Amino acid sequence: MIVKTPPMGWNTWNTFGINIDEKLIKESADALVQTGLADCGYNYLVMDDGWSEHKRDENNRLVPDHVKFPNGIAPVADYLHSKGLKLGMYSCCGYQTCAAYPASYEFEFVDAETFAEWGVDFLKYDYCYKPNNEPGQLLYRRMGTALANCGRDIVFSGCSWGADNTHEWIKSTGAHMWRSTGDIFDTWDSIKTLTKAQNPLFPYNGHGCFNDMDMLVVGMRGKGNVGFAGCTDVEYRTHFSIWALCGSPLMIGCDIRNMSPEIAAILKNKEVIAIDQDPAYNQVFRVTGDEDRFVWARLLANGDYAIGMVNLSDTPWRASFALSDMGINGTCKRKLDMKELWSGEETSSLEGYFMVDVAAHDCKLYRAKVVKI
Ligand code: GLA
Repeated sequence: MIVKTPPMGWNTWNTFGINIDEKLIKESADALVQTGLADCGYNYLVMDDGWSEHKRDENNRLVPDHVKFPNGIAPVADYLHSKGLKLGMYSCCGYQTCAAYPASYEFEFVDAETFAEWGVDFLKYDYCYKPNNEPGQLLYRRMGTALANCGRDIVFSGCSWGADNTHEWIKSTGAHMWRSTGDIFDTWDSIKTLTKAQNPLFPYNGHGCFNDMDMLVVGMRGKGNVGFAGCTDVEYRTHFSIWALCGSPLMIGCDIRNMSPEIAAILKNKEVIAIDQDPAYNQVFRVTGDEDRFVWARLLANGDYAIGMVNLSDTPWRASFALSDMGINGTCKRKLDMKELWSGEETSSLEGYFMVDVAAHDCKLYRAKVVKI
């Protein structure tokens, strides 16, 4: 199967950890639809670690937790499908999952078949408890082969956190997205760390196998499994802007049954989502700046540019860039008509450069049209 744009949806882990059950999944599915998130493209609901019993059955098949999922998984998948949503599930290439549930090592084909039978559409595949003598790429290829032959279209979401030079082999495994970073936490420091880690991995991002910067913490406000200190709404907006600019899969991690209007407005900004989902999927590149204050850009399918001016530092920044740093020099006789996608403000670059003030932890995200002078 080919996955043309970065998958979007909601994942249980950030807020609920292993405390998941059929009721939570159905309520969250309802919330995806009722809040309009599904209409914005968030259509995968991914059940992360903690959904199974601790033992396989007599046929070596995974068994859904009898208390959490008394009716099994298939009816949950049916419920999601009836709402136009898709079901994601979770397993791991090692002896057990990160939270110590049975994992798929040496059960790859039977597990892929089981997921297909249940109506699963997406598999997040972790890297914990990997046998030391088994190269990760072989284990991921094995599951990739099992999924590609299971008789159902299942998105293969690798989650090896960039370990063992994942970028060198992930595209050989059939994965459709791959975790290019360690785990996210709901802190500003974590957002900064993951952003900085992403920069050298830009060239490995591409059509059909997207760099996954991890699930969003937007809206968690310090609550839940990876809650910790929480972030401000400005920081959440910056986080969302960077993920969209880089074309990361967008998997919401907050409790979408209880979102504030401010948080919904961040997650549902259609112009920002359109940057993330741009069909050309060109590589994002650094225009100028350093690790903390930078301008990153991406050429979009219709000829516009997405331009992010990001201030991760703790002090205000007078941000600027020269159009020549994007390749548009004086011989081109072009400037940029810029629309900032959070404020809606429209402005034009001067002939050779653009300048704007960006507050600490804030970011300006533009869609820029290339126009004749
Ligand atoms: C790892 C993954 C997380 C989550 C947990 C579940 O840490 O990176 O995203 O899936 O395992 O245990």
